[in-house]
Amino acid sequence: MNSFSDNTPAVEVEHLTVSYGPKPALLDISLSVEQGLLVGVIGPNGSGKSTLVKSILGFVKPDVGTVKILGLPSESAKGLVAYVPQRGSVDWDYPITVEQTAMMGRYGHIPWWKDPGRRDHEIVEEALDMVRMADFRHQQIGQLSGGQQQRVFMARALAQGADVLLLDEPFAGVDAATERAILDVLDRIKASGRTLIVVHHDLATAAEYFDRLALIKQRLYAYGSPGQVLHPDLLAEVYEGRLKIFTDLEARALP
Ligand SMILES: Nc1ncnc2c1ncn2[C@@H]1O[C@H](COP(=O)(O)OP(=O)(O)OP(=O)(O)O)[C@@H](O)[C@H]1O
Ligand SMILES: [Mg+2]
Repeated sequence: MNSFSDNTPAVEVEHLTVSYGPKPALLDISLSVEQGLLVGVIGPNGSGKSTLVKSILGFVKPDVGTVKILGLPSESAKGLVAYVPQRGSVDWDYPITVEQTAMMGRYGHIPWWKDPGRRDHEIVEEALDMVRMADFRHQQIGQLSGGQQQRVFMARALAQGADVLLLDEPFAGVDAATERAILDVLDRIKASGRTLIVVHHDLATAAEYFDRLALIKQRLYAYGSPGQVLHPDLLAEVYEGRLKIFTDLEARALP
C-alpha cells in the first residue's frame, strides 16, 4: 500500500511544545507511534488532546519540536495524513453526494483542467466500500446521519491516499449502535495497514477500543498498551479525583 519501510514510525513527535498564550498547551511531548495501530489519546478537558492532533496535522505551529509523518517532516507529508472532521461539524446545505464528497479526496491528484479518471473512480469506490457507504453513493450527504457523514469523511481521507488518519472525539454524542459502526470502520481501516490516532474521552471503553493509549495533560504521562496506561495511580495523578469510573476501572481485569 505504501512504500515506507515497516519500521518507520507512522508519527514521530519530538520535544513538542505548543503555546497559545503564556502557558504551554503541550510541553515537551515526545512520542513515536508505530504503523498499523489504532491509538487513543486520552486526558482531562483542556489537557491538550486536540492541540496534539492539530500539531500532528501541521495546523498549529510548535514553539519548539518536530513532527514527522512516516519519516517525512509534516510540510512534505501533506496528503499522507488526514483529519476526519466530526459529525455535524459541517453544514451541508450545499447539495453534494456521498460519491462527490469522497472524490474531493482526489482533487489534489487531478490536474485542474481534467475530470476524475477511471482510476480516481475506482479509488473512491474502494474507499466507500471500506467505510461501508458504497450503497449510499448517490445520496446527498446532508441527508445522512452524523455517523454516516463521518464515515464518508473517512472515505475522503482514504481516497486522498492518507496512511495516517486523525479523528477528534468521533464518538462524541453518538448512540451506541453508531459508536459500534464507527469502531468497526476504524478497525477495518487499521486492518488495511493504516494508522489511526483518535482523541477519546471515555476511559471505560479505551482499553477495549485501542491498541495503544497516550495519556496527556500538557505533558505526556504515558504511552503504551491500555494495561500499562490505565494504571490507577497514573489516572489518579492526571485526573486529580475527577474520575468517576475509577472504581469500575479498578474492578476490571485490564490486559
Ligand atoms: N485557539 C486557542 N487559543 C487559545 N487557547 C487555546 C486554543 N485552543 C486551545 N487552547 C487552550 O489550550 C489548552 C488545550 O486545549 P485543547 O483544546 O487542546 O484541549 P483538549 O484536551 O482537546 O480539551 P477537550 O477535552 O475539552 O476537548 C486549553 O487550556 C485551551 O484553553
Ligand atoms: Mg479537544
